[in-house]
Amino acid sequence: MKKITFAVCLALGGISIANAADHATKDIVQWTPNTWNEAQQTMPKGDASVGEKLHNSLFCASCHGAKGEAMTNNWPSLAGQRATYTYKQLLDYQSNLRHEDERAHIMGVIAQTMDKQQMADLAAFYAAQPLPCPQGLAKPAPALVRVGDPKRLITPCAACHGANGQGGINETTSLRGMPKEYFIRTMELFRDGHRHNDTARGMSQFAQPLTDAEIEMLADYYACDAKPTAAQPTAALSK
Ligand code: HEC
Ligand code: HEC
Repeated sequence: MKKITFAVCLALGGISIANAADHATKDIVQWTPNTWNEAQQTMPKGDASVGEKLHNSLFCASCHGAKGEAMTNNWPSLAGQRATYTYKQLLDYQSNLRHEDERAHIMGVIAQTMDKQQMADLAAFYAAQPLPCPQGLAKPAPALVRVGDPKRLITPCAACHGANGQGGINETTSLRGMPKEYFIRTMELFRDGHRHNDTARGMSQFAQPLTDAEIEMLADYYACDAKPTAAQPTAALSK
């Protein structure tokens, strides 16, 4: 009951959000290839129908929509996301490895209440939903996506995230239909070193040489043309 009351307070935006800079960073442990492999091997088998119940009872739905669809342009889409990615993000929020700003801090607080089985069940539920823009991406792929930029050591995004943004192996995120403002925000956070939960630090390395205009162009490419229309649940945080 305590958990539920707490989540409701959060969903209503009724608590003040501590500044992410207040986090003590010294005890936060970065993944190594070995520890991340081990975490994947010991990931519990997720049950999507249990996940759906948790999505409602833990009030994820109040911020992430009935099926994990993005409710604002500045929050991520969870629907159709790779289960390993969702599972890893929940672990990373829980350990404070992912603590880049006040929005990540909300998730950090929520993840404190969860165990690994719940994380895997929720991940299975989102993975069972269709990805946004089922018709595929409308715009032609920019050069950075198709060929990268060898001069700046940028590997093509499509080599990892899939030719149509559908995601790659393990935790390699599906990007198709990722809301534009969230995409820009998280890429800038990778670029500027504030988001550093990526296992091999690959994303930070690829984001680092990108200009603002390039990040915006990539965000446009991966976004669905249709804008989210649902009401914004907590207006102050969704800006
Ligand atoms: C009060 C609103 C709120 C609630 C409730 C909430 N979330 Fe979130 N969630 C967010 C915001 C905001 C972000 C973006 C955080 C960031 O930028 O790091 C987010 C990010 C995430 C991400 C990362 C997605 C990505 O693409 O990296 C996952 C996974 C997630 N939430 C799962 C959940 C689950 C599961 C629950 C329920 C247990 C939940 N959230 C409850 C607001 C919420
Ligand atoms: C070598 C493989 C690789 C390449 C190349 C790559 N990425 Fe990624 N990307 C990843 C992985 C793995 C993650 C998940 C990081 C984590 O653990 O949080 C990720 C995460 C992301 C995220 C965060 C998604 C979310 O929901 O928060 C974005 C946005 C992204 N990549 C965009 C890009 C773009 C744009 C390019 C091309 C310029 C690119 N990536 C190139 C592997 C790659």
